[in-house]
Amino acid sequence: MSQELPQEFVQLNSQVSSLIVRLSPAPEIVYWGKAIPTLTSEAEFAAIIDRAISQARLDVDVPVTLCPEIGRGSFGSSGLEGHHQGKNWAPVFQYISHTLTGECLTIECADKLAKLSVKIDLILDGQSGVLSKSIRLTNHHEVDFQLDKLAFTIPIPYRAKEVMSFSGRWSREFQSQRHNIEHGVFTQENRRGRTSHEYFPGCIVGNKAFTHQTGEVWGFHLGWSGNHHWRAEAKSDGRRFVQAGELLMPGEVSLKQGESYTSPTLYASYSDSGLNGLRQANHNYVRQNILVLEQDKPRPVHLNTWEGIYFEHDPDYICQMASEAAQMGVERFIIDDGWFKGRNNDKAALGDWALDKTKYPKGLNPVIEHINKLDMEFGIWVEPEMVNPDSDLYRKYPEWVLSTPGYPLTTGRNQLVLNLQISECFDYLYRCLDELLSLHNIAYVKWDMNRELLQPSHEEKAGIRGQTLAFYRLVDKLRVAHPEVEIESCSSGGGRMDYEVLKRTHRFWSSDCNDALERQTIQQNMSLFFPPEVLGCHIGPARSHTTRRQHSINFRGVTALFGHMGVELDPVKENAQQRRAFAKYIELHKQHRTLLHRGHSFVIDSCETTRNTYGTYDDTQLLLAICQKAMPDYSLPEPVLLDMLDENASYHVFLLELPEHGEGIMKHYPNWIEQLRSNQEVKVHGSLLKQVGLSLPIQDPETCLLVHFVKCE
Ligand code: DGJ
Repeated sequence: MSQELPQEFVQLNSQVSSLIVRLSPAPEIVYWGKAIPTLTSEAEFAAIIDRAISQARLDVDVPVTLCPEIGRGSFGSSGLEGHHQGKNWAPVFQYISHTLTGECLTIECADKLAKLSVKIDLILDGQSGVLSKSIRLTNHHEVDFQLDKLAFTIPIPYRAKEVMSFSGRWSREFQSQRHNIEHGVFTQENRRGRTSHEYFPGCIVGNKAFTHQTGEVWGFHLGWSGNHHWRAEAKSDGRRFVQAGELLMPGEVSLKQGESYTSPTLYASYSDSGLNGLRQANHNYVRQNILVLEQDKPRPVHLNTWEGIYFEHDPDYICQMASEAAQMGVERFIIDDGWFKGRNNDKAALGDWALDKTKYPKGLNPVIEHINKLDMEFGIWVEPEMVNPDSDLYRKYPEWVLSTPGYPLTTGRNQLVLNLQISECFDYLYRCLDELLSLHNIAYVKWDMNRELLQPSHEEKAGIRGQTLAFYRLVDKLRVAHPEVEIESCSSGGGRMDYEVLKRTHRFWSSDCNDALERQTIQQNMSLFFPPEVLGCHIGPARSHTTRRQHSINFRGVTALFGHMGVELDPVKENAQQRRAFAKYIELHKQHRTLLHRGHSFVIDSCETTRNTYGTYDDTQLLLAICQKAMPDYSLPEPVLLDMLDENASYHVFLLELPEHGEGIMKHYPNWIEQLRSNQEVKVHGSLLKQVGLSLPIQDPETCLLVHFVKCE
């Protein structure tokens, strides 16, 4: 067979990984993993990767191409599904040409019989090693091409036997599960019309039992805020792959001659140091390539009024809240739902984006001025994509609702969805938002989206894709007109979190659940894909509104510290002691904000599942949090090994937070804590912290310890 081997490979290298693509007969990733030297002999490489052909199968080698075709004999999940009125349902693409410009490899392929072509872009980010890919299909046939699916396929090694997926629900986002991939497929499909709380568009595969600190892992994320599907499949020949794409509804995309469809971008990252390597690569990539944040501006600490006052807006009281907030160190004050005409509960008024004059007789500006005088930015909540049947907008334009004529309109949170694909509706929403932002000094918009799409048709055809693109267009248009305004992507908490929405927003409202215990898991899993500075993490009241659990300020404060911090309560109702406590955590956050928002995040493996040990570090310091979630399994905590420290340096140790504990579980603190408690200096060599580890106190459940290590000069 060797003389028939194609001669063309392209290799892309990053600091951590290499990618080798065989270009023909159709593009196939033949290597993606740990960095290797650039190929010097293509023939040598071809000789070792050339596959055997087994009995009782096709007599030819069938590659797992970037877009596997059933017509070539790829009997797993096809990358492309569609037809020209039933014909050309099994196209086979041949390599035509490629270009390599810097980090970007572009490959053109075509099926001349079916008159279809695909263009594939692969970009390997040199620094983070994150591979971003998109694929464009063009129909050259005079008959319309009905596209059912166009997905990206990435082969993964045989040893990647385990997949970690993320599912959830409102107030319990990003729960992780592990599954084995053997003889078949693990798949998740989202048809809710937004990124969804239920299934995050992404997964991580790795060798058996990969951990935070060990193992080889490959991570995937589809940057898309609509429907999606992804699968991790083991073929009957043992080869494995991950495939992901937009999930198209019947008839949703039909391409006329000359028209194209471009898939959402798939982001893939590699690490040979467990999940931490992936986490850091993704953070690095997002910081450099996705975020539109002003890099040098510290992320201001928020106060959001939702759980403090809900729909009860009284400007004098809000000003009082703002004064207290400023005293606590808050830097941005956001009024949530309830400010616009007739919005006294969640049953009415969505769509009528005019100020409620009965609540704000003097307008919004006096409140904003008060807030600005206190040196805080002002932010406001909106939910532009929605309408309540009980609203002037709906009464005037019932035909603007995203629906399928003849089918019942089913509400969700008493509301319906507006069809942003109707240009008059789009223009109306743009005008309302533009006016709001033009007439007021608004620095920040919390953009909410509180329901799924049901029967979402535009001109009677499935319109989820169209709605998703129109949402992007609306945000983009506003961003052009008001570039200084930051936007939070909120969708009942974390229902719209993905890289495509993050390209045009600045922060996520991670979850409506401010319960610190739940947040420990939610935030840790989110941090696999998103850096802490975009994860809205608020200190809520002692008793959580969503779970009714009670937590100490220590547990709530430290849990909210490692994100974009805020508070979500009514400071007027809290007593002076509680306000001082919030102020303390806000100050702590500000002191460490640069490290928290620019450092390398990590999680430490532990045999204790009752504890989360995590932190962030840079070249000179490390911040470590130990959160005891439940009663420890073992009576003595395992020492923490800090292998990211410099083994040639010494570190000053500072105890930032020592939780109170009853007499119940501990008689004596470890020595370093006793020394710090008696104001003695503690200095430890990095090699000891790396190899021997730091002894820990025994913590009560739902408490956090916070330690700061600073490299000695
Ligand atoms: C859902 C959001 O997640 C909450 O934070 C709050 O803004 C409410 N909507 C307001 O209706």
